[in-house]
Amino acid sequence: MDFKLSEEHQMIKDMCRKFADQVLKPKATEYNKQHKFPAKAIQQLGEMGIMGVVYPEEYNGAGMDYISYAIAVEELSRGGASTGVTVSAHNSLCLSPIYYFGTEEQKKKYLPKLCSGEHIGCFGITEPGAGSDASGTATRAERKNGKWVLNGTKSFITNGGVASVAVVMAKTSKDAGHKGLSMFIVEKGTPGFSVGKIEDKMGILSSSTTELVFEDCEIPEENLLGKEGQGFKIAMHTLDGGRVGIAAQAVGISQAAMEEAIAYAKIRKQFDKSISEFQAIQWMIADMATDIEAARLLTYQAADMMNSGDRQKYSKYCAIAKLFASEASHRVTHKALQIFGGYGYTTEYPMERYCRDARITEIYEGTSEIMRLVISANMLK
Ligand code: CAA
Repeated sequence: MDFKLSEEHQMIKDMCRKFADQVLKPKATEYNKQHKFPAKAIQQLGEMGIMGVVYPEEYNGAGMDYISYAIAVEELSRGGASTGVTVSAHNSLCLSPIYYFGTEEQKKKYLPKLCSGEHIGCFGITEPGAGSDASGTATRAERKNGKWVLNGTKSFITNGGVASVAVVMAKTSKDAGHKGLSMFIVEKGTPGFSVGKIEDKMGILSSSTTELVFEDCEIPEENLLGKEGQGFKIAMHTLDGGRVGIAAQAVGISQAAMEEAIAYAKIRKQFDKSISEFQAIQWMIADMATDIEAARLLTYQAADMMNSGDRQKYSKYCAIAKLFASEASHRVTHKALQIFGGYGYTTEYPMERYCRDARITEIYEGTSEIMRLVISANMLK
């Protein structure tokens, strides 16, 4: 067991931290206020290899491991949580199912432009009536004249409005439960495929979250991803990995909030001394630091397990990391805001944004309640 970062991990940490400090952080408040997607930053991240961190170089990927991926999402989220989730959903939810379940032709067709950041990807399983119960999918895909015809609506889709490629789950058989679900690749511009409602969210305001609408949308037969009926298992496999990205995002948001709270506590004077000299504040800082270290270790541990490829084991650890890191980010960002007092409650400081951004990490890619279900199911089997 070695708790030190390798040279490669330190290199990606330094590179992403510098990018976050120089490019993301200075613009984060303004972009959030304007609900502006960081398109240029995403393009730059593509050039840096961050839009395809773990995928082989033959597909334009950076060929790094999952710890590198977690570090990249953490550091970027420290600069801007919206960029963090854009990168995470793209890497984990769109590229991963294509890489692990796609044919060689599908990989060659889609991965290079996704890994370079020329194309952004999204993943559509959630629907108005199918959230935690992912197998409740109502979107249908019917085979007609050598094509698949999709009808239905996906909701809350991260990257929905900016994606060129969508990986989408639909029902291909009526009475087969989760075995009647299949996964498809749908390209932007396909007739019958459109972006629906743009969600008006509480946080991560410069990320794109929309509906995806399919109305008699015809796609080629070869756009089936994996086997017919394998869609639910592809979704579960994909989400296991995705949860490490969200854990990393939560760690990054927490780190940003704690760093700013410490800096503020040192300069803010009340009762003739810096508030950092009061034990009440010192204890909050100690609690924040402890939560963050624990969340980071759990996240890197889950990423390390993903490197080993043993899915029977890593599913539980990814859920543990996401559960702990997301709930820790709730505690940390609220303590950080508390240290800022009234100023923290205004938009003059980023504390209120950190609280809003952290909140979603307890919801997307599986709520905390679903994480507890996944963990306990693994403990009891
Ligand atoms: N990997 C592979 N297969 C798995 C699996 C996993 N991790 N977990 C379950 N399965 C398999 C089971 O083995 C079972 O297969 P068999 O029938 O062949 O035995 C099958 O899937 C069904 O399993 P369950 O009976 O456990 O399934 P369930 O219907 O009870 O649901 C659940 C399980 C964990 C609740 C699942 O539905 C779930 O994860 N829900 C949460 C959905 C979610 O995370 N949504 C997030 C949307 S994406 C998003 O949020 C993106 C974003 O914005 C960033």
